[in-house]
Amino acid sequence: MLIKIRRRSHCREWEVTDARVFAQRRSIIRQSGRIALLGLAGGLLAPAAVAGRRLANVRKTAYGRGEQLTSYENVTRYNNFYEFGTDKEDPARLARHFQPRPWQVEIAGEAEKTGVFDLDDLLRPHSLEERIYRFRCVEAWSMVVPWVGFPLADLIKRFRPTSRARYVAFTTLHDPERMPGQRRAVLDWPYREGLRMDEALHPLSLLAVGLYGEELPNQNGAPLRLVVPWKYGFKSIKSIVRIEFTSRQPVTSWSLAAPHEYGFYANVNPAVDHPRWSQKKERRLGAFFKIPTQPFNGYAEEVAGLYAGMDLRRYF
Ligand code: MTE
Repeated sequence: MLIKIRRRSHCREWEVTDARVFAQRRSIIRQSGRIALLGLAGGLLAPAAVAGRRLANVRKTAYGRGEQLTSYENVTRYNNFYEFGTDKEDPARLARHFQPRPWQVEIAGEAEKTGVFDLDDLLRPHSLEERIYRFRCVEAWSMVVPWVGFPLADLIKRFRPTSRARYVAFTTLHDPERMPGQRRAVLDWPYREGLRMDEALHPLSLLAVGLYGEELPNQNGAPLRLVVPWKYGFKSIKSIVRIEFTSRQPVTSWSLAAPHEYGFYANVNPAVDHPRWSQKKERRLGAFFKIPTQPFNGYAEEVAGLYAGMDLRRYF
């Protein structure tokens, strides 16, 4: 089977037997000088992940009950966070010393209340809950993560968007000193994403501050990220510093980079292939066999109504 490693490519997993096993094999060989580890499962090969600070008063919920969780190792060692490099193992290494505090978030645009807020002040009114969500990357790998956070809708309502607010735009920190990947023009920095207002207000849309009961590891988007479980993972923007209510559909990083490959909606859809690979199946991190991809990542019952009457091939 073809094993192909490309640097600087957003999407490559669909054509690789298991790039993660391959990449970890190489780093193990570098570290230990031993070569007898071929064929072992990926999770066994990663160096131990460092645990973060535990979050207090997290309410358990029924979301995802019964799902088999992806290991902490896999969730925190196999990342897409181009601000810290384009290889899957880069973010855990290059974000190790990143300081996600102090942190400010600007709330801007079409809302009655706007301003720049210290993150802790912004978070204070919200009680935290744990939600286990499936997470499907456009690259055709997936995972199941116990996120800790609160509904995005609860935050939005506090700022009272006006009737002109039809979309919500999100921006990641832009600081090449602290985010070394931004020194290369891999994307048009800062990373930007957006949702239609009804998507943002949907009860499944989550602002996450943690996973596995702990504060978000830097590589997973500390201190604040979005999680939209029915959409491809690139919509779930990390390390957010700006939330803006807009009347027009916002420009988003991946649609800007490759408009024919990454649409604004990016709903998980096995019936619409990526121009360069199939989306019919996916590989769960830590598992060997592929599984069928579900429409809206298995959340169709909750969210399909948002797109009633829309041609999902056109609005991909
Ligand atoms: N957010 C920022 N700021 N930069 C990124 O490169 N990558 C996206 C998304 N959010 C990305 C980002 C992609 S492509 C995916 S699949 C998910 O983050 C990966 O999240 P994870 O590393 O926590 O699994």
